[in-house]
Amino acid sequence: MKEQALKELLNSLTWEEKIGQLVQLSGDFFHADQLAVGPQKKLGIDQRIVDQVGSVLNVTGAEKTKEIQDRHMAKSRHKIPLLFMADIIYGYRTIFPIPLGLGATWNPDLIESAYQQTAEEAKAAGAHVTFAPMVDLVRDARWGRTLESTGEDPVLNAAFAKAMVTGLQKDLLNGGGIASCVKHFAAYGAAEGGREYNTVDMSERRLRQEYLPAYKAAVDAGCQLVMTSFNTYDGMPVTGNQFLLKEILRKEWGFDGVIISDYAAIQELIAHGVAADDREAAKLAIEATTDIDMKTPCYAKELEPLIENGEISTELVDRSVYRVLKLKNDLGLFEDPYRGASQALEEQAFLTEEKRRLAKKVSAESVVLLQNRNQVLPLAPNKEKVLLVGPYGDNQELIGLWAVHGQREDVVTIKKGFENYLDSDHLLYTQGCDMLEDYAFLGEFGATKDQIEQLGLDEQMKATELETALALAQQADTIVFALGEHTMQSGEAGSRTDITLPKIQQVFLQKMVELKKKTVLIVISGRPLVLTKEIEQVDAILQAWFPGTEGGNALADIVFGQTNPSGRLSMSFPYSVGQLPLYYSEFKTGRPLTSPTHKGRFVSKYLDSPNEPLFSFGFGLSYSKVEYSELTLNSEYMNESLTISVTVKNRSDRSAQETVQLYIQDVTGSVVRPIKELKAFQKVDLRADEEKKVTFHLTRADLKFYTKEMLFEEEPGKFIVFVGPNVKETLEATFDLK
Ligand code: NOJ
Repeated sequence: MKEQALKELLNSLTWEEKIGQLVQLSGDFFHADQLAVGPQKKLGIDQRIVDQVGSVLNVTGAEKTKEIQDRHMAKSRHKIPLLFMADIIYGYRTIFPIPLGLGATWNPDLIESAYQQTAEEAKAAGAHVTFAPMVDLVRDARWGRTLESTGEDPVLNAAFAKAMVTGLQKDLLNGGGIASCVKHFAAYGAAEGGREYNTVDMSERRLRQEYLPAYKAAVDAGCQLVMTSFNTYDGMPVTGNQFLLKEILRKEWGFDGVIISDYAAIQELIAHGVAADDREAAKLAIEATTDIDMKTPCYAKELEPLIENGEISTELVDRSVYRVLKLKNDLGLFEDPYRGASQALEEQAFLTEEKRRLAKKVSAESVVLLQNRNQVLPLAPNKEKVLLVGPYGDNQELIGLWAVHGQREDVVTIKKGFENYLDSDHLLYTQGCDMLEDYAFLGEFGATKDQIEQLGLDEQMKATELETALALAQQADTIVFALGEHTMQSGEAGSRTDITLPKIQQVFLQKMVELKKKTVLIVISGRPLVLTKEIEQVDAILQAWFPGTEGGNALADIVFGQTNPSGRLSMSFPYSVGQLPLYYSEFKTGRPLTSPTHKGRFVSKYLDSPNEPLFSFGFGLSYSKVEYSELTLNSEYMNESLTISVTVKNRSDRSAQETVQLYIQDVTGSVVRPIKELKAFQKVDLRADEEKKVTFHLTRADLKFYTKEMLFEEEPGKFIVFVGPNVKETLEATFDLK
C-alpha cells in the first residue's frame, strides 16, 4: 500500500478501531494455547475489544496463525491483518546456544547467519516479529536473564546487536526475514543486586557510555521495534520515561518505529507508584510514545476517555497508530496476511541439515575451555575407558529455558555425541546424581505439588546411582562430569544469590574426585557460576552454557579433539558472589590495588577475596599455544587514525581460531576513565605452526567518551594500547592523541 493510502486508512478508522491497533493480547484471547510469559491476570477485556486488537503475543505455527488471522480478517471492517509477535530468542526450531554462549563465540558474522536461519524458520511458522535481540549489558551474574545477554561489554554487545538484527531482518522489506524488536530499552541488566525487576539508578554518563551503545547499534542496524524495560531509570519506569523514549530514542537517535511495552509494564506503572490508576498509567505511557500496550487493559479502556477529556492529543495517538499500520504495511501484510507462512514451508525450513551444521558450529565456538591441567583434554577416541556421569550426561534439556519453540526430542545429548567417538567397550555411563536436592522452587513456576514430587530420583535410586557411578569409575581412566544449573534456575525471574552448582551435584563431584581419576567437568549453565572449588577438584573444565540442539555433537567434537576450542568469555566469572557486580572495565580508583599480593589496608580491595575474577573477560584456552609478539604502532601519535599490528604464532600441530583483542586506557581525562576498554577484536584462523600479522585501525572516534561537559568527544593526551588473548595477558604500547 502507498503511504497516501495508508494515511487514508488511518483517517477512516474510528477511535475504537485505532486504539485496537495499540493493544496486544496473548493467545488465550484467540482460543490458542497460551504460553505463560508473565503474571496471569483477568484483564476485563471483552470480545468487542479483542476483535479490534492489532497484534498477538506468542502464538506461532503456520496452521494456528492462519486460523486466527482468517477469523480476524473475516471480522475486520477494514481488513487490517494481525501482527504475530513472539519470543524467538536463540532459535526457532533449530536451537542455537543461549546468547551468553553466542557472546562467547566473539564471532558476530557467524551469529548473523544463525539469526538469519532462525528468521527463516520463524517466518515459515507465521511469526512476523521477534522480541529479539535482547542486548542488555549485564555485570551481575545473580541476574537470571544473564542467559539472554551477550555479556558485560558495550563494544562486544553492540557488535552482536547489529549482527542479530541484520540476520533477522535480511531482505525484510522484500518479504524476507522477520522484524526485530530490540529489548529491553534501557539498562534492564543493571537491576540492583541482580534482583529481577529491581530498580536501576546510574549516572547519565554511565548510561550513555556503557549501557546504551548496544541498543543504539540495533536501532542503527534498522530494527523495526523497541521494547521498553521493566525497570525504572532515574526514578521513572522506562515505559513512562520521556527522557529515555522521547528524548534519546526518538529525538536523538531518530527512531520512528514501534515502541512496545514489556508484558504488563504499562499497568505496572501503578505498582511502581507513579500512576494512581489505569488511566494515569495509559497517559504516562502514551505521552512517552510507547505505542503498543502488551497485555493490559490500560490503552484499550483508557485512551479514548483521555482523548475525549482533552488530556492527550489526538495527534499523539494517531502517530502511534500510524507507526503500527506502517509496520504491517512494510511487512507486506495487507497483500499477504500470512507473509508466506505455510505448513509446507515449515517442513522445508525446520531443522535442515544445513541448520544443524550451523548450530553445531555455533555451539562449538561458544564452548570455553576454562582449565586443562596436564593437558587431559582432548581425549583419544577408543584408547581409554571414559565414564560419563551427571544429570546432563544424557539429557535433552540442553536447549535451556527460553527455547520456546525448540523440541527436546531434536536435541543431541552429550552421551549421543560421545557415542560418535567411543564404542561400547570404552564408554561407560550412568546418571550418578540428581539435578537438584529439592524441586520445591518449581512451584513458583506453576508446577503442582504432585508434579514436583515426581521429579528427580527417589532416595533408593539416588543411592543406587551413586553406587553405580563409584563402581564404574573404578574401571574408568577418565571421568567426564556433565553438571550444571536446572533450566529453571536462570532466565526471567531466575535471580539467585548462591550461584554455585546445586549442592547435591557438589557432594557427588567431591565423592567421585576422591577416586583420583583424570577428570573433566562440562558445565551447563545460564550464567557464570562460582567455580572456585571446582577448579581445585577437576583437571579440565569446559563451560558449555545451554549449547542448543547440536550441543552433544559439538561438545563431543571438542572433548575428542576434532574441534579445537575457541570460545572466550564475554563475562567475567566471579571468584565469589560477594564480588558482584564484576567487570573488567572498572574505573580507576584513588587507591588502586597494584599487586594481587599487596599486604596491608587502605587500598581498594577485599580482606577475604581477590579483586580479580576467577576467569577474566576474554579468557578461554585452546589445545594450541598461540604466542603474541611485535606489538607495533605505525606512529607514536594519532592524528586521525593509527594502525596497530601484532604477530600471532600458532605453536602447535593443530589449527586454531584465535581471538585477538585490543583494549585501550585513556590515561588522564576530564573525568575518571576505565582501566581498560575493549575497542576491537578479530577472530583469526591459524593453521598448525602458522604465523600471522593481525592489523587494527583505531580512529579518533574510537576514543570518544562523555567528557566532564557531557560532550561525546576524544581528549588529547596519552593512551595505552593493550593487545592479547584476553584482558589480562596483554602486550602494551603507548601513543599520544594530538
Ligand atoms: C516479558 C519479558 O521480559 C520479555 O523479554 C518478553 O519478550 C515478554 N515477556 C513477552 O513474552
